[in-house]
Amino acid sequence: MIKIAPSILSADFSKLGEEVKEAEKGGADLIHIDVMDGHFVPNITVGPIVTKAIAPLIKIPMDIHLMIENPQDYIKDFVKTIDIGRDISKDCVSVHVETSPHIHRVLKEIKNYGVMSGVALNPATPLETIKYLLDDIDLVVIMTVNPGFEGQSFIESMIPKIKRAKGLIGDKNIDILVDGGITAENAKKIADAGATILVAGSAVFNKRDSIENNIKKIREAVKIRV
Ligand code: DX5
Ligand code: ZN
Repeated sequence: MIKIAPSILSADFSKLGEEVKEAEKGGADLIHIDVMDGHFVPNITVGPIVTKAIAPLIKIPMDIHLMIENPQDYIKDFVKTIDIGRDISKDCVSVHVETSPHIHRVLKEIKNYGVMSGVALNPATPLETIKYLLDDIDLVVIMTVNPGFEGQSFIESMIPKIKRAKGLIGDKNIDILVDGGITAENAKKIADAGATILVAGSAVFNKRDSIENNIKKIREAVKIRV
């Protein structure tokens, strides 16, 4: 079954704890934390102080998406904040393949801390960059917007990339997490292309409906047969 990971980037930060708890109660499978440094992407968001605040509030895994330069300098800091007696083997830290010429070493380091490792690819980054990393990752993050902001439109040309990622992974136990511009309207074709985890920020935390209903809408859309 497809997993849904609400991104806190679109949450109301004045009541972040409540919104994250509501997402868990509303059926979220993971909570996606977008970490931005103002260098790798043109926006600044949150650091370990926020993962530290959220970790005690939820039981579902945390999916920490590092959109930062020199991610190797911060992995330990993030893992420390979530390693508070919960089962961190289901939590995940993802780094962008574009951030290091030694990404293999960075992924090994993530695994050594006992969490799942993910490698993220910007829209223009070829899928082939992960070909020799498949034994070292638990998930691949296919970016379907240029990272930096919530509420952007899904880049349609990423559908074939998701399909090819599925082919490349074959029967290996690696999740395909798709991140950016996902709505109840396009979720089905993204899932059909091969996504196993859908990240959704604005589609979940917009105030047009409750967080629970917004998660449900995405889940129902994926299930519909055409
Ligand atoms: C983009 C982030 C995404 C994004 C999701 O830089 O990595 O997680 O905020 O938000 P929506 O679903 O609104 O595109
Ligand atoms: Zn993200």
